[in-house]
Amino acid sequence: MARFTLLIIFFSLAVTALADNPVPYSEESIDRGSRLFQQYCTECHGKDGRSMIDVISNATDLTDPEAYYNGASREDMFYSIRNGAGVAMPSWSIQIKDEADSWNLVNFIRSLWTQEQRDNF
Ligand code: HEC
Repeated sequence: MARFTLLIIFFSLAVTALADNPVPYSEESIDRGSRLFQQYCTECHGKDGRSMIDVISNATDLTDPEAYYNGASREDMFYSIRNGAGVAMPSWSIQIKDEADSWNLVNFIRSLWTQEQRDNF
């Protein structure tokens, strides 16, 4: 019985760990996120994520986590991408169905940050 309980605890921990970060920060994930970003996101956030040229004025500069309006943790970004944010950021859950791809986008955006920013957010 004790062993069974331990097994249950082990599995719940494993599932929680996976839910927290289903797609690890890796080159492969960043590449995939980069391709999706160039396809769907540049019209407002710009090719480099800075939202400087040719873009609607209030789109977040994604390279500066301190400037995010809705939080810059992985979960916050995932939420913004899935559900939209503010008045002008659309929800992407229809076009980008696979949740793993939203995590790939999160990883790509984080790759635009410095190591220090990645450690802090
Ligand atoms: C139609 C323009 C538009 C497109 C296309 C767009 N965004 Fe946004 N995005 C915005 C705006 C505007 C905001 C600021 C939202 C707010 O005011 O809270 C934003 C905010 C965000 C945020 C949250 C940042 C914060 O301030 O908290 C993330 C993350 C994000 N966008 C990622 C993406 C990704 C990834 C894509 C492509 C899949 C994308 N955006 C495509 C306009 C856009």
